Amino acid sequence: MNIVLNTLKSFNSNYVTAKRVNNTNLIMSNPIQADTFERTNVSFSGKHDNVSELQQARVHYEPKLPKVFRGDGINNFEVKQGKKTESVSDQKEIQRLFPETYGQPIIEFEEMSSKKAAKIGKKEHSDNKPLKVGIILSGGQAPGGHNVITGLYDSLKKINPKSELYGFLGGPSGLVDDKYIKFDDKKIDSIRNTGGFDVIGSGRTKLETEEQFEKVLDNCKKHGIEAITIVGGDDSNTNAAVLAEWLKAKGENINVVGCPKTIDGDLKNEQIETSFGFDTATKTYSEIVGNIEKDAASAKKYWHFVKVMGRSASHVALEVALQTHPNVTLLSEEVEQKKLSLNDVVDYTAGVVAKRAEKGKNYGVAVIPEGLIEFFPEMKTLIGNLNDLAADENLQDVMQNGSAKDKIAVTRQNLGEDDLKVFDSLPEAIQGQLLMDRDSHGNVQVSKIDTEKLIIQMVDKKLKDMKAEGKYNGKFSSQAHFVGYEGRCAFPSNFDADYCYSLGTTAAALINSGKTGYLASVKNLDKKADKWTAGGTPITMLFNMEKRSGKNKPVIKKALVEMDSPAFKELQKNRKDWAVNDEYLIPGAIQYFGPSSVCDKTTKTLQLEHN
Ligand code: FBP
Repeated sequence: MNIVLNTLKSFNSNYVTAKRVNNTNLIMSNPIQADTFERTNVSFSGKHDNVSELQQARVHYEPKLPKVFRGDGINNFEVKQGKKTESVSDQKEIQRLFPETYGQPIIEFEEMSSKKAAKIGKKEHSDNKPLKVGIILSGGQAPGGHNVITGLYDSLKKINPKSELYGFLGGPSGLVDDKYIKFDDKKIDSIRNTGGFDVIGSGRTKLETEEQFEKVLDNCKKHGIEAITIVGGDDSNTNAAVLAEWLKAKGENINVVGCPKTIDGDLKNEQIETSFGFDTATKTYSEIVGNIEKDAASAKKYWHFVKVMGRSASHVALEVALQTHPNVTLLSEEVEQKKLSLNDVVDYTAGVVAKRAEKGKNYGVAVIPEGLIEFFPEMKTLIGNLNDLAADENLQDVMQNGSAKDKIAVTRQNLGEDDLKVFDSLPEAIQGQLLMDRDSHGNVQVSKIDTEKLIIQMVDKKLKDMKAEGKYNGKFSSQAHFVGYEGRCAFPSNFDADYCYSLGTTAAALINSGKTGYLASVKNLDKKADKWTAGGTPITMLFNMEKRSGKNKPVIKKALVEMDSPAFKELQKNRKDWAVNDEYLIPGAIQYFGPSSVCDKTTKTLQLEHN
């Protein structure tokens, strides 16, 4: 079967060329020319029924780059160094632990001045030595990961066509166990602008032991790899910094560069304006929440409680709220800052339900962040002590291998009075979920805790009490949703496709400049891509000390929602209106083609932060 795709005249002008057409995965009978895209007929041969029409179309999207890297920029930029940097806190301790890489300066890449260019002459790739680089995708999937790979690959080839890119399989463990593929044009073309991490997979192995580092070193030496790019969130880039430090301390010339990935949006500072994937994931969730709002307002019979991903920070919940205007938005950081208990939050939510019922509206939508449960002061203390119990060597057998019932029983015996009270107030299902294994970084797996159901249950009870007291006279029928995995592998939005390709290119520039312990950083992201700048942020700059698995460790500090941030203020300004009135905003699906004002638009959070 032949699938013929007619590209539309109205397609975005970025949708212009197919760079390579010689792969067998996607055979094009009529290669597209930049100036003839209006007449394009792209034809894919048979056996490719598993390649959707959108994927066939997206393969031709040419990601936009910062100006410095356009044309032959990757071979002709200048490196500008800023001042020495400091970690966000615990400076002395972090400096002691990272003597080799602590305090490195912020780096910006700039277009080469015409004076300098004239002096040294234009650099051609034949002037460069070929590079051998390894890449791993680490942690939770985020839309755009494949574009980091394509950006890095294209740049390495531009630096020297003989350069090679190794993709280590299954995250950090692939690097330790030497499981890899070598990328070639065919593989790269098949993943351009696609979602998912499936080309090499991902994993959450923590790189921390001497034995692991030795194996990484052996594997790099065996292949002649001189740099590794770790694409990950806070935990994975903590790995990147630790590995960079270890290699440098050993006197090895193998550099480590990170790329800021996580749909949670909590890996950021002034240099890292957003992590990739946040844009696409929040657009996907907003589409779903908007559609649910429309359903709620049509059927008028359900209250929908939608838990959205975001393990610790509530950036996702906040962004979704700004895009959709739900009736209730709960934010973990606000709960923590105002020291609200679970009961306080239930009272607030039941209050909104009751107010709407007075107006005859027995329906509504509440957005809840995934990590909420950890932020109630009483729960935070409990979870901290549960983590210590989980790390207690004497209890490890039961805590790791016991049944849910045994774990609950042992936990009850070992908790102090106050914790026990809180623990006993929770339904058994939630107790069991709180005792599930931590991930390799010591995090509670909040995606497995049914916080939305817990809140529904408690709101229901509260409303029954209010009814008995004559304070509520409505009907409460609820639906619970968890929206998370649905957005992590979507086709990257234009923003994420551009941003990720630029991050991959920036990583190549950092590697070619001999930098280690840096995160690729692309800035000015609220503007059009030709105004974007590129550079490197020393990873230790983002570090602080935190208790993990019962021990104090240096880790990247999560960037949580600030109560004085423009995005939070925007929610606060509108919250009361959105609670009672139906001011639902229905953003619809991500648009990949069409006017730039629609399909290149960034998140509200980024726009507000730069206003
Ligand atoms: P990262 O921090 O690794 O980017 O992962 C974030 C996340 O998507 C969270 O939002 C979620 O709690 C978690 O991953 C789920 O992890 P898993 O894929 O292991 O279930």
